[in-house]
Amino acid sequence: MRKLVTGAMATALALVTTTPAAIAAAPTMPVNAASAKDDWWKSAVIYELYPRSFADSNNDGIGDLKGVSQHLDYLADLGVDAIWMTPMFPSPQADFGYDVADYDDVDPQFGTVADADQLIAAGKQKGIKLILDFVINHTSDKHPWFVQSRANRTNPYRDFYIWRDGKADGTPPNNWSSIFGGPAWDKDPVTGQYYYHFFYPQQPDLNWRNPKVEKAMFDAAEWWLKRGVYGYRLDAVGTMFEREDLKDNPLTSGKDAFGLAEQNRIYNTELPEVHIELQRLRQQVIDRYPGRILIGETYVGTSAELTKFYGARNDEVQLPMFLSLIGIRPLTADQLRPRIEAVENNPVGGWPCFALNNHDQRRVPSRYVLPAGTTGDDMARITAALLLTLRGTPILYYGEELGMQNNDPKRVEDVQDIIGKKGWPNEKGRDGERTPMQWDASVNAGFNSGAKPWLPVGPDYATRNVTAERKDSNSVLNFYRSLIAERRSNPALAGDMMMVDRGNSNVLSYVRTGGGKRVLTVLNFSGNPADLTLAQLGGGKPGRVIAKNRADLNAAGVHLAPLGLLVVELS
Ligand code: GLC
Ligand code: CA
Repeated sequence: MRKLVTGAMATALALVTTTPAAIAAAPTMPVNAASAKDDWWKSAVIYELYPRSFADSNNDGIGDLKGVSQHLDYLADLGVDAIWMTPMFPSPQADFGYDVADYDDVDPQFGTVADADQLIAAGKQKGIKLILDFVINHTSDKHPWFVQSRANRTNPYRDFYIWRDGKADGTPPNNWSSIFGGPAWDKDPVTGQYYYHFFYPQQPDLNWRNPKVEKAMFDAAEWWLKRGVYGYRLDAVGTMFEREDLKDNPLTSGKDAFGLAEQNRIYNTELPEVHIELQRLRQQVIDRYPGRILIGETYVGTSAELTKFYGARNDEVQLPMFLSLIGIRPLTADQLRPRIEAVENNPVGGWPCFALNNHDQRRVPSRYVLPAGTTGDDMARITAALLLTLRGTPILYYGEELGMQNNDPKRVEDVQDIIGKKGWPNEKGRDGERTPMQWDASVNAGFNSGAKPWLPVGPDYATRNVTAERKDSNSVLNFYRSLIAERRSNPALAGDMMMVDRGNSNVLSYVRTGGGKRVLTVLNFSGNPADLTLAQLGGGKPGRVIAKNRADLNAAGVHLAPLGLLVVELS
């Protein structure tokens, strides 16, 4: 869900509980022990790229696949191993690509299948794999399957979607609400029945209980794997199934951002059936292609819920993103520590995966209340130090490495994202975190050569851009570059992890150990300065400083200003 787009939605998320799935006692070894090469994703840095906003090669205001190909050297230099690209399939763009009208093609505004092939081939040469977004819960209402399905009640595609009669009084079949506002049911005048949509009405939910849907979707997944794509990020994976008896969800006390009563979505999210389906997807499709992976958009509250997505035998999603860190307000050491430890020590031995930014969330520098005297860049650095020194695969979001900030719409007339139009001003939508990548100080930040971009370029682009930051040794970009390079070369950052100074509610500290090396990370998330002795940090003699901001290291220990951080080798 999914979306914790704003405060209101984050609250909705916090209320979600999970239908208990019977997970058998979990062995700690994966069943299909992969070869070292097939494990590439464990040491990888993955980069989420929103193609509409990355680079516009033909100057029509919309980013495209050729634009991505033209910037592969930049990504290689940054140290990226794989791109996860959000949907570029043919789409009416009601949800900017998350409403897919054809899984086996490219939308003309993004290019052609030949452009995608070229991107895959060029990426191969530069060591950058392509991962696509698989929108599994729903299609566009313009997908030929839905066009057929709505035509009449006996159409062979009728059961590809979820159709039900309304209640006797003509109201929707039950009380489920859409996470994007309003009822989750729309009555279709053609046949007089309602269809179900967890998201927009333009995104009817597929009926995964129909074996023909599974077959059609598995074929779609294979279509791109055969072309050399390295796997999928599974969109909204927890929403694939809903209870067949359509039991009403319990209502909670609040209202959602769109004015409906909030509900605890226990009967239409996180059903046990999701896991059975994921195992089938792994077995029947993904595992037939070596080294291919599934990443999960897994917005769950706890690590226990996240663990289910690895599968009891590590046979579901290799990288379920632990997105619940994004919802923490304020971001403190004592909130982070238990969550991180729980994921690191998950009972099935699943490999952790963390992301702190994405196309649905306010960017980190604009997300939190900043302590006095600190800037969004300081927040960008401390979260980067966390993400890039944790044990697990980090997923970055384009522009994060520049410290890009949200550029939110000022007027409802300017909003592109429909939830922002519907929810204004409570919910301004997601435009602010999707503005064009800032490449240089030229017109439109180098996103294109002058056509009006689909969203306005951030006001700080003249100084916050790739070219300027590349030259500045203190830039956020160089902070990311050097930490990624360190990750790739220092065996400690591929090794074990142990929290130290665990009672500290302000400062998060941990030691990574591997290949005979040790690296200490110390992160002061609080608004107060902190002084820590080396003994408190687990002992050891500090050596080379790997990264530092607002911090001093001396014989007595470490001094950190608010948001101060230190990453240091221990001898
Ligand atoms: C996921 C996507 C989001 C999209 C939604 C519906 O949450 O990240 O952008 O709107 O699914 O497909
Ligand atoms: Ca374009």
